[in-house]
Amino acid sequence: MNTNLSSSVPSQLETDCLVVVVLDRNEKDRSEKDKPVVTVESSDDAVREAAKDVISSGEVTGKTFETTLLHRPAGLKAKRLLLLGGGKAKTFSGAELRKLAGAAVRTLKSKSIRSFAFVVPETAVPARQGVPAIVEGAFVGNFDPGYYKSDRNEKDQKIDAVTIVVQGNVQGKVQGDAKALENAMQAGRIVAESQNFTRDLVNEPSNRMTPTMMAERAKKMAAEVGLNCEAYGADKIKQLKMGAFWGVAQGSDEPPALIVLRYDPVGAADKVHLGLIGKAVTFDTGGISIKPADGMEKMKYDMAGGATMIGVMRAIALLKPKVKVTAIICATENMPSGKAQKPGDVQIAMSGKSIEIINTDAEGRLVLADGLCYARQLGCTHLVDAATLTGAVVVALGYVNAGIFASDDQMYERFANANKQAGEKMWRLPLDDEYKEVIKSNIADMVNSGGRYGGAISAAMFLKEFAEDTPWIHLDIAGTAWTEEAKPWIAKGPSGIALRSLVEFVKGWES
Ligand code: BES
Ligand code: MN
Ligand code: ZN
Repeated sequence: MNTNLSSSVPSQLETDCLVVVVLDRNEKDRSEKDKPVVTVESSDDAVREAAKDVISSGEVTGKTFETTLLHRPAGLKAKRLLLLGGGKAKTFSGAELRKLAGAAVRTLKSKSIRSFAFVVPETAVPARQGVPAIVEGAFVGNFDPGYYKSDRNEKDQKIDAVTIVVQGNVQGKVQGDAKALENAMQAGRIVAESQNFTRDLVNEPSNRMTPTMMAERAKKMAAEVGLNCEAYGADKIKQLKMGAFWGVAQGSDEPPALIVLRYDPVGAADKVHLGLIGKAVTFDTGGISIKPADGMEKMKYDMAGGATMIGVMRAIALLKPKVKVTAIICATENMPSGKAQKPGDVQIAMSGKSIEIINTDAEGRLVLADGLCYARQLGCTHLVDAATLTGAVVVALGYVNAGIFASDDQMYERFANANKQAGEKMWRLPLDDEYKEVIKSNIADMVNSGGRYGGAISAAMFLKEFAEDTPWIHLDIAGTAWTEEAKPWIAKGPSGIALRSLVEFVKGWES
């Protein structure tokens, strides 16, 4: 999709569709007497005039994602005018704007429209934030998971070009010069394309995204953006004594892959070295503790944490912040077989700690245990992992929020700021020492499953044993990496959650 920035007067723009946000500026709660006060978010009188009649008819309420499409709008050069509801002005922010851009793309592409212009609602969101938000939302909305559909017509329903219209002088204030806005737009594009790159990897079924194929995709991407990428197989995993990772991998005929991506820019301070660790179980059958058949097909997305880290590295390589980052992706299948590990088995992790396997379906924490240990061995000073780790996090937070766990409050604050910037929904869960009780073992240092209650937390407590004293954050994205039903702004399927927060987080360490 082409993106370009324009400072034309909106009514003078020749486009297939001019998209303008409408907000409800009535601050009181809605009651029968309390009609919405709908405003058209453009300083161009002609645009407001074109929308006047339909608004005074009461048809337009400004409700979030409400769409009103006018053809041949009077006084406008655009072929169509789309009034896009953004909800209450009071609560409108960059995160809402991002979703609206996605909704505009999804509405228009379904009508076979190929290009449009989106007016930044500068009174509500300054252009410096609005421009990248619109780009990000538009790319996310343009993603189509129907990759293997043979019907070309359906596949080709995509937007080819979006123009972002900045009017500049709003209430006498100049809101950022053209060069800065152009850079913001390009940065938004890099992040959004990286998010879609991750979604592409996650969308692939397990027969088309084996650990080996994932390593190949990472290498190809790395070569394109100038990153260093190495992928190791079973020999290296055994040589590093990654007994926990290998315990999972040993059951599969597909070779595992330990993927390492390095970003080491000149001029970065050497006291900070971020480690990004991703769970990449390309298919999780549960192993010998096999999962029920119902819904098992979805376990192809159990590599989303790893795919996220690969996407983050792509964005970082292109955005070039001055901070050293290493990503470690532990890729394997979790299969039952004659070679598979069994409940009761004891594995010795790379750190030397012993693990009694209670449930072979608690495999994510095993591969991450060695990934975290390896990151520390490589000298990482701060660790972040992302994983579709537990069904329990879905019980706790549903499909809305990802779970955040943090061993260090300062690091958490940094992450929470980045997360707020990125506009992704996440919620912190606790890591009190009391939770450690449930992962005690009779025979070994710990068990790999703490049972049903507080399952997301006991899984995180297990990981903490391997992060040791290195400040560490764990993101459990089991409930949020896959969108269960289509939303106005995003298709059903892989969401690309956490990528934007992680990119912001990494940028925040720039020296
Ligand atoms: N990959 C699953 C977690 C998962 C569940 C991801 C739902 C996405 C959606 C993980 O490996 C798993 O099976 N966890 C078990 C742990 C249990 C055996 C302690 C779970 O959550 O049931
Ligand atoms: Mn599992
Ligand atoms: Zn899993």
